Amino acid sequence: MIDMGGQGLTGDIHDDTVHAPQPYDAPNPHPEPIGVVLEIAGSGSQIVLDRQRLDECAISADAALALSGQVGSQVKILVGRRWLFANVRTQKHDRRGGSDGIVAHIDFLGEGEAAEGGMQGFRRGVTNYPVPGTFVYPVCTQDLREIYEGAGDDVIEIGTVYPTRDIRAPIHVDAMLGKHFALLGSTGTGKSTSAALILHRICDAAPEGHILMIDPHGEYSAAFRDTGLLLDVSNLQLPYWLMNFAEHCEILLSSQGEQRQMDAEILAKCLAQARAKHRLAGEMGRITVDSPIPYLLSDLSTIISNEMGKLEKATTTAPYVRLKTRLEELKQDVRYQFLFSGMLVGDTMTEFIGRIFRMPSRGRPISIIDVSGVPSEITSTVVAVLSRLVFDFAIWSRSERTRPILLVCEEAHRYVPSERNGEASSVGKILSRIAKEGRKYGVSLGLITQRPSDLAEGVLSQCGTIIAMRLNNERDQAFVKAAMPEGARGFLDVIPALRNRECIICGEGVSIPMRVSFDDLEPRRRPASADPSFTTLWRETGGEEEMVARTVQRWRGQGR
Ligand SMILES: Nc1ncnc2c1ncn2[C@@H]1O[C@H](COP(=O)(O)OP(=O)(O)OP(=O)(O)O)[C@@H](O)[C@H]1O
Ligand SMILES: [Mg+2]
Repeated sequence: MIDMGGQGLTGDIHDDTVHAPQPYDAPNPHPEPIGVVLEIAGSGSQIVLDRQRLDECAISADAALALSGQVGSQVKILVGRRWLFANVRTQKHDRRGGSDGIVAHIDFLGEGEAAEGGMQGFRRGVTNYPVPGTFVYPVCTQDLREIYEGAGDDVIEIGTVYPTRDIRAPIHVDAMLGKHFALLGSTGTGKSTSAALILHRICDAAPEGHILMIDPHGEYSAAFRDTGLLLDVSNLQLPYWLMNFAEHCEILLSSQGEQRQMDAEILAKCLAQARAKHRLAGEMGRITVDSPIPYLLSDLSTIISNEMGKLEKATTTAPYVRLKTRLEELKQDVRYQFLFSGMLVGDTMTEFIGRIFRMPSRGRPISIIDVSGVPSEITSTVVAVLSRLVFDFAIWSRSERTRPILLVCEEAHRYVPSERNGEASSVGKILSRIAKEGRKYGVSLGLITQRPSDLAEGVLSQCGTIIAMRLNNERDQAFVKAAMPEGARGFLDVIPALRNRECIICGEGVSIPMRVSFDDLEPRRRPASADPSFTTLWRETGGEEEMVARTVQRWRGQGR
């Protein structure tokens, strides 16, 4: 029992020296307080918890009550006619005066009006803080229900709130997408399945949406065969001329350093000339080397040759030869056909944009772009082109009625790596730009990664909503900690201890930080990422030789 000047918590609580419980009692089976407020400070408030009361609560049948006082759980405090809710961030043994109490840091989350039988109208933010000495009460399942069930039009439910079994976990889609989101977790914790679950719920709620998913492992096609447009190298047909100059350089230049600079200058000149030859260029008037105007690869090649012919000294032809050789290589290589096929010379920009951005969506609001078949040296450039198209489209359609687009990027650390891991590529630049400015143009970013510490600086902090699954690595945990809003810090210690399929969600998309256990996703809607059962598969036999032969065939033919 903590010493409060001779007053036990469950003693004579109507004594004037401490704040007596107000007339509105929570519908707790254990209405007695569990502690008192010790200190209210800007840097963090503290409460003292009574160990004996916590022990009593711990055996309660109410799952929320049973967690009372634990790090990551909530407590409530009555101030005037409002119940204030706070999250327990830390716990420490209170050694002062030989007492047996626990001092805990808390972060205030929000408040609701005290009402007969509980609380109503929960909202974020705090009007009045309690004074030291005010009683602290445990939060019960009924309180949690009141906090979470204030649904709106834009709410999707994705699982159940821990520790309850039946309170549905709501996410406010408008708030979540308005300020980007990040889904983080070590490998195998269920990121891809959770991403599919969230996207399915969004698609069900918004069948006329516009979602573009970059899928580096070809996992998501299986999940969205009913509601998505499935694109891969066989049917993407991304016209090469949609690339801007920087993207052309990434694909066409093979040299480094000074040589690269020289090659780039030549490419810029020739590319501008090739674009200028198109009928559209004439109609448009001024165009630049970045303008998405079709050109013929053969024109580019001829222009390079012509420019080379103008040279006086044969020694300086090397850059031209390099460019021409690379161009020829790409045209011949079957793996590059999705980008450089002769079929892609026509002006298909309107159809292409309409198709990948699902405008109109025709009941399939999401396009899954499986880039697993793209040669690895140009994957990031392809992702850059797609991401930039999203952003440019949003900028150029500003005078129209806004049609927000969600761009979801799996394995985001590959595309927006921190500066430590290499210089900024065009994909890193465009995704960072979308993270910073996308909101103003109606572009939302969803980043999924197992390595938050490898993400570029600042990108994570641009994500208004963080969905953190288990993270084993300490560096990763530190990065997530820095990006989490204050009120959620109490959950941080829980992150390494989460089970698979469990997560902490905090930020804009939720009314208060919560620990959620994701719903089971039906097998038909899951991504193709199931863990193989070695013991089962290694007991089966038959058809191995044919299987190997078929694989070699596909490997050689580079077709799937
Ligand atoms: N909500 C869920 N419903 C059903 N199965 C799930 C759910 N979440 C995860 N799983 C199962 O857990 C396994 C791993 O999930 P998943 O592939 O989504 O993990 P991951 O974090 O994306 O892994 P990686 O980092 O390797 O991509 C899969 O077999 C998946 O079917
Ligand atoms: Mg995955």
